[in-house]
Amino acid sequence: MTDSVFGLMDEWGPEKIVVVSDRKTGMRGVLVLDNTARGTGKGGTRMSPGLTVEEVSRLARTMTWKWAAVDLFHGGAKAGIQGDPNDPNKEAILRAFARALSNEVPSEYVFGLDMGLAEDDAAIFLDELGDRGASTGLPRALGGLPYDQLGVTGYGVAEAAEAAAHSRNIDLKGSRVSIQGFGAVGQAAAVRLVALGATVVAVSTAAGAVHDPNGLDIGKLVNLRAETGDACVHHYGSAVPADYALTVDADILIPAAREDTVNDVIAASTNVKLVIEGANLPTSPSSRRILHERGIAVVPDFIANAGGIVAAAHSMAARYSPFVVEPEDIFTMISTKLRANTTAVLDESGRAGLTPHEAAYALAQKRVLEAMRLRRQIPKTATDTIDVLV
Ligand SMILES: NC(=O)c1ccc[n+]([C@@H]2O[C@H](COP(=O)([O-])OP(=O)(O)OC[C@H]3O[C@@H](n4cnc5c(N)ncnc54)[C@H](O)[C@@H]3O)[C@@H](O)[C@H]2O)c1
Repeated sequence: MTDSVFGLMDEWGPEKIVVVSDRKTGMRGVLVLDNTARGTGKGGTRMSPGLTVEEVSRLARTMTWKWAAVDLFHGGAKAGIQGDPNDPNKEAILRAFARALSNEVPSEYVFGLDMGLAEDDAAIFLDELGDRGASTGLPRALGGLPYDQLGVTGYGVAEAAEAAAHSRNIDLKGSRVSIQGFGAVGQAAAVRLVALGATVVAVSTAAGAVHDPNGLDIGKLVNLRAETGDACVHHYGSAVPADYALTVDADILIPAAREDTVNDVIAASTNVKLVIEGANLPTSPSSRRILHERGIAVVPDFIANAGGIVAAAHSMAARYSPFVVEPEDIFTMISTKLRANTTAVLDESGRAGLTPHEAAYALAQKRVLEAMRLRRQIPKTATDTIDVLV
């Protein structure tokens, strides 16, 4: 056990792993602070039956790169409870977990939402530690904001699309966009893209796709989606198979459904000029390589769908304020950050001959390394030659 925990450590982190348990409730949990060279550890808190220390460590590492890639000053961290989120004893378990981590929260880590936890659970963390700063993701009645309802992630995906188009000398106005997936991310992206002047020519859900080369009526589709769910494409009329959205004639493809949808065959045959990753991991290293070699720019998931983490950074900053964060301020910040990062990553990709994913990781690692060097955590002479992750 001890050896396997030490085996999780490398030159980046984790700096601290706190494993806790409580006899009374049976609570078992872990907090991993991966790398806080750039700021306080921040990453969601999850609850799942099969949770492992290794899984939480991996997620904490991902947060280290995400914060740095978006150039926000937080460090990578993640926490988790091994248990069933539907346990009738959940409140007591959450309270025991918060108490056990009262040395670390909120000075070194702040709870947040991830799989298995919802707004009401964040309220319990806050109450148990008697500190408004103990958690983000709070209900509105305690000063939080419903980010999913506001569509922050999809909004950011559309902003990233415009920045990517601009960096490739494509005018988003009049560009034809196809969107795979019409959930929280796909819908908000479609609405914002139309506002930016793009023409959404195809949209799919798991139930099928709709296509109109002259542009779909997104307002109508959003209303139908609210009433009929994934079947909205059939109610809209003339639905075709779902995969159609991946192969349709368009300028920009936005996979916003799930992982591994843009495979090598799609990558080799698509005629789009840009792929903006709304979903997490919709491409693979090999499909990305094919797209890159064909001159098709891919904006990586952790750059394009980072609207949620920009919103989380706002929540972090607002924890002790009596004022509720204005949604408009969040949207402005998402737009500024995601546009700047998209441009930086595509520029670096072009300059260094790396895929945009490789360029984004390299940029993130460079930023973390620089912070570590300035804090004298590593020799001033340490080089930037670190294996690029993909
Ligand atoms: N919600 C967020 O804030 C957020 C943030 C970052 C990343 N993401 C990622 O974005 C993706 C979508 O998240 P969401 O919150 O919009 O999910 P969601 O459940 O609200 O919507 C998913 C949509 O994809 C569709 N879909 C599923 N399989 C499909 C297929 N094979 N073909 C076409 N459509 C298909 C579903 O019908 C649905 O319309 C996921 O990868 C998620 O991890 C979401």
